[in-house]
Amino acid sequence: MTKFPMIVTRGLGKSYGSNVALAGVDLVVSQGTILCLLGRNGAGKTTLVRILATLLAPDTGWAQIAGIEVRRDAARVRQLIGLAGQFAAVDDGLSGRENLELVAGLYGLRRREARARSQEVLERLGLAQVGGQLVRTYSGGMRRRLDLGASLVGKPAVLIMDEPTTGLDPANRIELWKLIEDLVRDGTTMLLTTQYLEEADRLADQIVVIERGRVIAGGTPDELKQRVGGDVLEVRTTNAADVERVVQLLDGLGSGRPVADMRDQRVTLPTTERVQTLLAAARRIEESNIPIADLGVRRPSLDDVFLALTAPGAESRAAVPLPSSPGRSTETRTAPA
Ligand SMILES: Nc1ncnc2c1ncn2[C@@H]1O[C@H](COP(=O)(O)OP(=O)(O)O)[C@@H](O)[C@H]1O
Ligand SMILES: [Mg+2]
Repeated sequence: MTKFPMIVTRGLGKSYGSNVALAGVDLVVSQGTILCLLGRNGAGKTTLVRILATLLAPDTGWAQIAGIEVRRDAARVRQLIGLAGQFAAVDDGLSGRENLELVAGLYGLRRREARARSQEVLERLGLAQVGGQLVRTYSGGMRRRLDLGASLVGKPAVLIMDEPTTGLDPANRIELWKLIEDLVRDGTTMLLTTQYLEEADRLADQIVVIERGRVIAGGTPDELKQRVGGDVLEVRTTNAADVERVVQLLDGLGSGRPVADMRDQRVTLPTTERVQTLLAAARRIEESNIPIADLGVRRPSLDDVFLALTAPGAESRAAVPLPSSPGRSTETRTAPA
């Protein structure tokens, strides 16, 4: 059985005056899977989220949730989706339980149902113990969980989360990841935006990278990591004057070209053979007698991904996922070639 495309966008565009926030975005998220929209600050993530959540109308293109066009039937779309974000939209002056019951009331649940549903959500999020306390007394992680809880009260088939872990400490982040994984396992379809490659790697069935409102790459986490080259060798020189020499030394050792970062006196090199590359680099550096401050291999950061994806020649390798069944639309736009 092929999975139903629960979220589809085609040629989605949005400008604020002369500022182009989205420049034609195509996405498909299949039922019961999670797509991570990865992008730096200002890439267009929130704009896309707001369009999907019916809070903002696109200038061009269209979006569907469960086959329903977002602009045509916003009310039905809102019944299908939950939205949680970076800025927890909960009321400080109410308890956690009261916040959830309020939301349940908005969904038309009667008092008893609202209580039961709120209790269920509090338990699921590990907030049952503090449900009676004012939100004002909650930690950042607890607030974020409650915000997610509020979006779960309506049992949404599609959950949209805009940078849910930004600003959370590592322990809270991991906790939220586990909750997200549970929800997807139970069949929720999810679109999550993030600035963290690590997060997308951990959670995503599919990653779409956007930059300046355009999809610049897409695929599974493994496919994306292959494009980046696996790991990154990093050398920091003691003297700024040696950076260029290290670039020359490392040329040919990795799976791509070495890149100099003059500001940090740093050279990075993508590699798929971490140990061999590290040993070979150490040998060359030692023979050259160039003093270095640090040498190591690490997982690629978001910056490394962008470097790899925006390097000369990277464009021709772009794999942009296209909607499998776009359905009917009043507006059609041709997908980018
Ligand atoms: N209400 C707005 N008015 C004007 N420009 C905006 C508005 N919202 C977003 N933008 C601009 O649109 C671009 C994309 O923003 P946004 O979607 O918030 O990106 P992200 O969520 O990835 O950080 C940015 O250049 C941002 O400055
Ligand atoms: Mg944003």
